[in-house]
Amino acid sequence: MSIWSPTSWREKPILQQPTYPNQDELKRVLKELENYPPLVFAGEARRLKDQLADVANGDAFLLQGGDCAESFSEFHADNIRDTFKVLMQMAVVMTYAGGVPVVKVGRLGGQFAKPRSSNTETFDGVTLDSYRGDIINGVEFTKEARVPDPERMIKAYNQASATQNLLRAFATGGLADLHQVHQWNLDFAHKSEVSEKYEKLAEEIENSLRFMKSCGITSKTYRNLRETDFYTSHEALLLPYEEAFTRKDSISGDWYDTSAHMLWIGDRTRQLDGAHVEYLRGVNNPIGVKAGPTMDPEDLIKLCNTLNPDNEAGRLNVIVRMGANKVGEGMPKLIRAVEKEGMNVVWSCDPMHGNTIKSSNNYKTRPVDDILTEMKQFFQVHKAEGTIGGGVHLEMTGKNVTECIGGSFVVTEEDLSSRYHTHCDPRLNADQSLELAFLIADTLKESRK
Ligand code: PEP
Ligand code: CO
Repeated sequence: MSIWSPTSWREKPILQQPTYPNQDELKRVLKELENYPPLVFAGEARRLKDQLADVANGDAFLLQGGDCAESFSEFHADNIRDTFKVLMQMAVVMTYAGGVPVVKVGRLGGQFAKPRSSNTETFDGVTLDSYRGDIINGVEFTKEARVPDPERMIKAYNQASATQNLLRAFATGGLADLHQVHQWNLDFAHKSEVSEKYEKLAEEIENSLRFMKSCGITSKTYRNLRETDFYTSHEALLLPYEEAFTRKDSISGDWYDTSAHMLWIGDRTRQLDGAHVEYLRGVNNPIGVKAGPTMDPEDLIKLCNTLNPDNEAGRLNVIVRMGANKVGEGMPKLIRAVEKEGMNVVWSCDPMHGNTIKSSNNYKTRPVDDILTEMKQFFQVHKAEGTIGGGVHLEMTGKNVTECIGGSFVVTEEDLSSRYHTHCDPRLNADQSLELAFLIADTLKESRK
């Protein structure tokens, strides 16, 4: 294989990139970014890799979730806090009811660039370049907004940096203390069935904490009760940005992408000879690769060899996103190929991206039933193959949005217009996310008996 460098991806064919009209401006911005402090540290990425090795062995479960696309306009401490709280709720449900520790990874602090199925969008007879995420151009449907602007990378970095700072504070400054288990339940006008179920579980946990206190185990004496590890991740799509944050770790001498702890390659940019695979093969972070219905078993093996040549546990996460009606047929082939070759991977389920539909009133949405079906099938297939369904990858938010239809507190097609805020794909709201967490907990308990 040819020699890797932080810029070797530039020699390879690349998809899904903007064309910046002003190349001098682009160079100036990238130079500036190269001098900015890293957002994460190599030691943290290594720690995540160790924890993902536990996931690969079935000793932990991976919960990865957050926005489809972070945006400049939705940037607010309350939004980050609420997404954090829902992830904490989901994790505690899975840990307490499912009996396994949960590794928490946000699609946060850098999840800005979006691959698009078409280069243009047409609305009312007007055709413009597609929106590619706030780090590239604007979502407004005007010619000016759609021009790629390098300055947006600086704004995205600043937002990612503030987000990361807040997440660190939440994870270690008190909000993640297990004694806050009631606090994590979000206060919506309604109390849904699932949030009442959560309240019951929180009470049981509080009882256990009281018992532990009487044995001398408290937040003061035991770090794991008062703090958590919380990691960030995003799709490594906009490679000039990732390149600018590629730094050599002074301890190990290895390269890391310091824009997030974990990075993944999207389903549209996973070509073996392409720029995205070239870039990620050389950084030492834990990485993911999406596997849609067109993923060929042989290609997956080649990807494993290229992206994880040392077959390191915890390095590579295969994120399966086939759709409820395809995963049952499509995933066993992949699992068998990986097992036959003895490849070490973490299998996780993205039940979102294969289940996107248009509602009759023209919203991009996802039926919660299909999401649940894909999840259940994912675990059933792993059980049948004797392998480990290690995690989930979700588009979700702590906000009370109406973007996915269904759920136990039913969102109907008519409701979609009331709180549809996403900049890209429809997200699960807090109730829908929690409902999923209970289902996963049942499955975990069952499968790990
Ligand atoms: C995403 O995760 O937002 C995404 C675009 O996924 P995929 O590459 O699987 O389509
Ligand atoms: Co998406």
